[in-house]
Amino acid sequence: MTERFETKTVHISHPHVTDVSKATPIYQTSVFAFPGLEEVEAYYAGKRDYLYTRNGNPNQTELADAVAALEGAERGVSAASGMGAIMAGLLAVLQPGDHLLASHELYGGTYALIQKELSRIHIELELIDLTKVSSLAGHLRPTTKMLFMETITNPLLTVVDLPFWIREAKQHGLTVMIDNTFATPYLVRPVTFGADLVVHSATKYIGGHSDVTAGVLVGRAGLVERAREIIVHYGASLSPFEAWLAARGLKTLALRMERQCDNAKKVAAFLRNHPAVKATYYPSEAATRFFDRPKQGAMVSFCLADEEKIYQFYRSLSWMKLAPSLAGVETAVSHPVTTSHRALSEEQRQATGITKGLVRLSVGIEAYEDIVEELDRALSR
Ligand SMILES: Cc1ncc(COP(=O)(O)O)c(C=O)c1O
Repeated sequence: MTERFETKTVHISHPHVTDVSKATPIYQTSVFAFPGLEEVEAYYAGKRDYLYTRNGNPNQTELADAVAALEGAERGVSAASGMGAIMAGLLAVLQPGDHLLASHELYGGTYALIQKELSRIHIELELIDLTKVSSLAGHLRPTTKMLFMETITNPLLTVVDLPFWIREAKQHGLTVMIDNTFATPYLVRPVTFGADLVVHSATKYIGGHSDVTAGVLVGRAGLVERAREIIVHYGASLSPFEAWLAARGLKTLALRMERQCDNAKKVAAFLRNHPAVKATYYPSEAATRFFDRPKQGAMVSFCLADEEKIYQFYRSLSWMKLAPSLAGVETAVSHPVTTSHRALSEEQRQATGITKGLVRLSVGIEAYEDIVEELDRALSR
């Protein structure tokens, strides 16, 4: 190595580490270096794992493999956001001209992706209220390729009979993709019922601390490999640091979910009996009977009896934050009508029950008494 200062400053050698780091290091690098051309060839021959971070990085792999293992899936891939993972999963299956069936209670971003972007390549979306029909029969076309559902819907927290609908879709030869963001593999693993792809906004419970934006897609190896190519081609790869944060958050998923679900059950019971609340939305034990555990999730939605008091309700909160996301360790509230469901017409709002007085509550890990006292203060004002 040259002794010249300018050269020495940039060619800092890596410390030679022989001890095993307990925590995964962050591979905060855009590219990987090779001892020689033989090793570059080895990468292309599939004998080395990493070349360039958009194509792959150990932190991305760690997160994707961990979620795949928890979901019981063959393979996983991470993406820059939940939307990146959903986009890759849909495009891995659908071709121009294909028809996609989806449950009518769909996250607004997923709906926008399909309606505004995938429609441009003539992928046609048909929304079905799965609580009102008993089979897919009347909705199938020769071009129907996929059924897309969310385990617990946003914001009314509907849980449909997932095993039944997966079976029904598979009987008709459809690929099934499930957004398991709200339930997490702690509560249910759709792959065990035959789902082909399962997607997560890891921004939510997987990360768990409202400090990371990430997505993960897991499922059948062939589909996930195709999705990985799409993520690379569209430039939707996850940054190493975000992957590291999400993987770190994931380690406490079970503890957080246990506590958050238990708190949510108590908070839902409190809201049901509050005179200032006219409706409470929280999955029933019967609806969630196919879950791996006797828990109903950690989200609760409710509607004020006097919907005009909604501004006053949010203003009256002291420590509980109004923030349009969910699943952090802190309890937070959001207002679907002015955020995630802003695009709905007044008519659609009345029809769906997503009205001005609706509050979506993401229950955290605090002492539940404090959550209840804070809500009671704001509701009673
Ligand atoms: C159920 C669900 N799926 C997907 C997404 C999109 O995830 P991200 O914001 O990480 O892109 C969200 C975001 O709120 C969501 O709630």
